[in-house]
Amino acid sequence: MSPGAEAQNEEAERLRPLFDAQLRFAEALSASTARPLADTCLEFTNLHRRFGLGRVGQGEASPQWARFADGLARCASQAERLDWTVAFFAAAPVQESATQRFGCFSYELAGEGDIVRIHFSSRDGDDVSPLAQAKVDRRLADLRAMFADIRDRHPGARTVRGGSWLYNLEAYRRLFPTAYAASVFTPERVRLDGTSSWGQLLDFRGSVKPAARQALLDALPTLDPAAPWTAFPLRALGAEAPIEAFHETYGC
Ligand SMILES: CC(C)(COP(=O)(O)OP(=O)(O)OC[C@H]1O[C@@H](n2cnc3c(N)ncnc32)[C@H](O)[C@@H]1OP(=O)(O)O)[C@@H](O)C(=O)NCCC(=O)NCCS
Repeated sequence: MSPGAEAQNEEAERLRPLFDAQLRFAEALSASTARPLADTCLEFTNLHRRFGLGRVGQGEASPQWARFADGLARCASQAERLDWTVAFFAAAPVQESATQRFGCFSYELAGEGDIVRIHFSSRDGDDVSPLAQAKVDRRLADLRAMFADIRDRHPGARTVRGGSWLYNLEAYRRLFPTAYAASVFTPERVRLDGTSSWGQLLDFRGSVKPAARQALLDALPTLDPAAPWTAFPLRALGAEAPIEAFHETYGC
């Protein structure tokens, strides 16, 4: 087995409790809405992206997803569905995202190219949380580099918009301009096909947090199919501010 395939296998096993929670979440939604399990997995979990198949958005699922869905339909039990999901992830092509990273941060443009959406993932690869007080300067340097890049490459960018469970944490909010941190609001709807809610089930090493996972599972019996995001212990919040606030704060 190649080192890449071995690492992918290890990650698949590390993520097994996450995949289990995602399948149970989708199963609960299928039970209450009579929608096929593959559909609820596609809309309410981030499996499509976890498999490296990209963002679904308003578009069609990748053709590879149909293979996953077929396999899922053939499984006779929850245990088989979990094994199939873990195996499908393990066999997914290992691909580094093409997005440029600035330490733990990355961005993409939305709207007419005037909106910047920021993303955070744990990338330090050491034994200290990327949100630790001791790393605040490192994170600010990431953000300074990122906003300098945005200024150079996307002069039409006007507004920064975020959406994540992370805005519940002072350890995250303190990295941003006051106006942005103060803008945090509860959105009406939350998409569940990305990391903005599911990310709270992971720690900075990429392992599943047992307490957060259990809290989500405990909420499944009362899951509201019209607002399934409310079952997560922390609700994904939105934030928005003009881009000038970022250039001023980071001096770039
Ligand atoms: C963000 C991430 C690195 C945090 O990892 P972690 O192992 O929980 O890190 P820590 O334990 O050091 O937590 C950082 C801070 O958040 C707090 N925190 C973390 N989870 C929390 C929770 N569920 N409730 C309340 N506080 C929480 C911690 O107490 C700590 O704050 P402190 O420094 O003031 O004590 C990790 O969850 C992750 O990588 N998630 C996936 C990426 C993601 O969610 N991205 C968002 C995409 S939109």
